[in-house]
Amino acid sequence: MIRFDQVRKTYGRTVAVDGLTLQIHSGEVFGLLGPNGAGKTTIVGLAVGLLRPDQGAVELEGAGSPLNPAVRTRLGVAPQTLALYDELSGRENLAFFGRLQGLTGRRLAARVDRALDFVQLGDRGRDRVKTYSGGMKRRLNLAAALVHDPPLLLLDEPTVGVDPQSRNAIFDNILELRRLGRTVLYTTHYMEEAQRLCDRVGILDRGRLLALDTVEGLIQAHSGKSLVVAQDERGETRRETDDPVAELAALQARGRLISFRVERPNLESVFLNLTGKQLRD
Ligand SMILES: Nc1ncnc2c1ncn2[C@@H]1O[C@H](COP(=O)(O)OP(=O)(O)O)[C@@H](O)[C@H]1O
Ligand SMILES: [Mg+2]
Repeated sequence: MIRFDQVRKTYGRTVAVDGLTLQIHSGEVFGLLGPNGAGKTTIVGLAVGLLRPDQGAVELEGAGSPLNPAVRTRLGVAPQTLALYDELSGRENLAFFGRLQGLTGRRLAARVDRALDFVQLGDRGRDRVKTYSGGMKRRLNLAAALVHDPPLLLLDEPTVGVDPQSRNAIFDNILELRRLGRTVLYTTHYMEEAQRLCDRVGILDRGRLLALDTVEGLIQAHSGKSLVVAQDERGETRRETDDPVAELAALQARGRLISFRVERPNLESVFLNLTGKQLRD
């Protein structure tokens, strides 16, 4: 769907994206996971043609470079910094973005309705955006990205600063977009989100893609063992293991367990292993 080939982007002395080669497949939810400053927003800017690579190329399959405005109608972007007009209603905002994408008349009106309903703002569409909660604004920002129904959506930290209810609504939206066959590039610094939503995840740090695989693949390749903590009459036992089920069975055979828990490695441990630091420094 979109391909980055040896892409480098600097701002003065800062290397924001360093030799990025990456291909996002049609129909997948692809997660870019990395801490603040990793280069996520720069990659989104390159993908939508707002930024020009210093070296390398970005290409939309079958369409060419997003630096070409005609190619950009195939993209929808929900920027990290909300791009909404506070004085306008939700409906007017979507109509504005729809017109920018070439929609007019009845088709525009129908698409605006669909997009508002999709993010469950149908009943608030006539209210000014300045009366919306943070979560509602994030949802409208998402609706603005998809008003023209593009095949590729770029969502830059779409859940930052939202309440849990809106966050879950946004998760449902993304899963629905996947069911509808859309392709999603999703950036986040929340490993739980990447783990829950994404078909494949790229781990990004300081502009470099350190690893790329399914969540399971990343955990198997780059993270440590599971930790089994079991309690029996003699006290607590802690065991690191690749096979927690076998470990539990062995402990159970030794004496009746009172309680146990298994801590599975996750993307946080993958990140720690790859970079030597926590995701949330
Ligand atoms: N317009 C800019 N001018 C100078 N430096 C920038 C600019 N935008 C981003 N950077 C720097 O580039 C790096 C990557 O930033 P960014 O792409 O925003 O990362 P992320 O979205 O992962 O937080 C950071 O070091 C950031 O400070
Ligand atoms: Mg960012």
